[in-house]
Amino acid sequence: MSDKSKNETEYSRREFLMDIGKAGGIAAMYGTMGALGMFAPPAGAAPVNFVPLTGLPKSKKGNRVIVIGAGIAGLTSAYELMKAGYSVTLLEGLDRPGGRNWTVRGGDSATETDGVTQVCKFDRNQYMNCGPARLPQHHITIEYCRELGVELEVFTNQNADAYYYNEGVGPLSGVPVRHRTAKADIYGYMSELLSKATNQGALDDTLTAADKALLTQFLTNFGNLQSGKYNGSSRRGYKVSPGAGSQSGEIDLPAYAMSELLQSRFGLNFSFEFGWDQAMLMFQPVGGMDAIPKALERAIRPKTKLVYSAKVTGIYNTTEGVQVVYEDKSNTPKQLEADFCICTIPPQVLKKIPSNLSPNVIDALGVAIPQSTGKIGLQYKRRFWEEDDKIMGGITNTNTNVSTIWYPSYGYLGKKGVVVGYYNFGANANFYSGLSPAERQEQALIQGEKIHGPSYRSELENSFSVSWIKTPFSEGGWVGWPTSGGQRVPAYDLLNKPDGNIYFAGDHLSYYIAWQAGAFDSARKVVMEIHQRVAA
Ligand code: PHE
Repeated sequence: MSDKSKNETEYSRREFLMDIGKAGGIAAMYGTMGALGMFAPPAGAAPVNFVPLTGLPKSKKGNRVIVIGAGIAGLTSAYELMKAGYSVTLLEGLDRPGGRNWTVRGGDSATETDGVTQVCKFDRNQYMNCGPARLPQHHITIEYCRELGVELEVFTNQNADAYYYNEGVGPLSGVPVRHRTAKADIYGYMSELLSKATNQGALDDTLTAADKALLTQFLTNFGNLQSGKYNGSSRRGYKVSPGAGSQSGEIDLPAYAMSELLQSRFGLNFSFEFGWDQAMLMFQPVGGMDAIPKALERAIRPKTKLVYSAKVTGIYNTTEGVQVVYEDKSNTPKQLEADFCICTIPPQVLKKIPSNLSPNVIDALGVAIPQSTGKIGLQYKRRFWEEDDKIMGGITNTNTNVSTIWYPSYGYLGKKGVVVGYYNFGANANFYSGLSPAERQEQALIQGEKIHGPSYRSELENSFSVSWIKTPFSEGGWVGWPTSGGQRVPAYDLLNKPDGNIYFAGDHLSYYIAWQAGAFDSARKVVMEIHQRVAA
């Protein structure tokens, strides 16, 4: 996202206003995120180069750090500080590491902020990554996986055979169309139009005769044109597949009409995979995303005091350093002192915790806008998406309230599997948040059945859903920052500085919001700042 040009940002914002509630899905989500400054370029864009911390003087005061939160930012802070010889106490509200990096498996249970508890009934070897679930190759997250020995496999973010399915948008409403089919037709028609314009002289002021010839050649290839016209092609798929002997196959024709495709808005999904962070290949840890926090935890455990089920109830700057008050597992108040604190609690949660943080810092915490997102894992006794639909991983996009359906990128050809029946944002996520677990399942089935037919209901065994806005200690999937003149507001910059001896870290303090990479980077920045201060 970080290299999006201003024009694209403006475009996203406009698209958001026009299309939200109309096309829904990815296009609307991008618009929302653009409006929240998630694609805004940073003011100075000065690179933060991480220099591993070394040379902590044994005698020097300043080597005791309390880290609050064992999500990626907290674990990474503890890990890098530990390597340099700091004495670290890590407090975590939950009984596991990872924070939003949460993989749910059979036997796990979770209680949302309204008190509703779910117990996951997935079979052994089935799981859902409730939070982060895809890693681009260029993220720092991959470097940590290498360093920590976390095994990776391909995560399928795009699949030509997954579907687009939209409602209320013209003749293709209610028709599941394969990604490849929509692309073949839309690329075909766009190529035909541009080819026509070129050859009718509309671009004569712009192109030389030689370039016109080259453009025509490109368009003929790109759109699969015949004599400048798109007539459909095998790229759409086959009615009867090619086979042995005389079975030459029958292409699935005719192509959809250009107007019905434009009305369907399928094309608004295409640019998703052009994104800096969403292009294939993408990766996932083998066995679940929580392999990352587990590996970090293993690395720090020997040298770090790690306290789970620690509910922080007070954070204070003192003349000497910091004081942190928390309740332990048995609700007994405990108090800790140290030289510095790295607080990774999300702003919307931190602002409610008693502290002596500066009033302007507390105000700044209130500026971040928590974003709603959720998922449901549907365990099926048969992998009908593979057996019947020939879909091996990847994502279906729809403007119904589920937004996306994710087919598992693991366990191919196995007996069972967990499909993510919705991964959605904003209003759609809020809608599911407001439902009971049983109602969420029912809604997800109603929508999924429209695409996959009766198996979507009949093969279901159980489900587990997460609403991030209702998840204790997180209270949001991520945050957005308001922007002004394309820049994030001053609240963002303020929280990127320490308040006395208290430092803040997390993806929300990076230009990689909603990515673990932001948390890794933010942690690295803050530990470097502390180290420089101690060394001075
Ligand atoms: N990283 C999350 C995801 O890939 C959230 C996100 C979505 C962030 C789209 C940026 C763009 O789903």
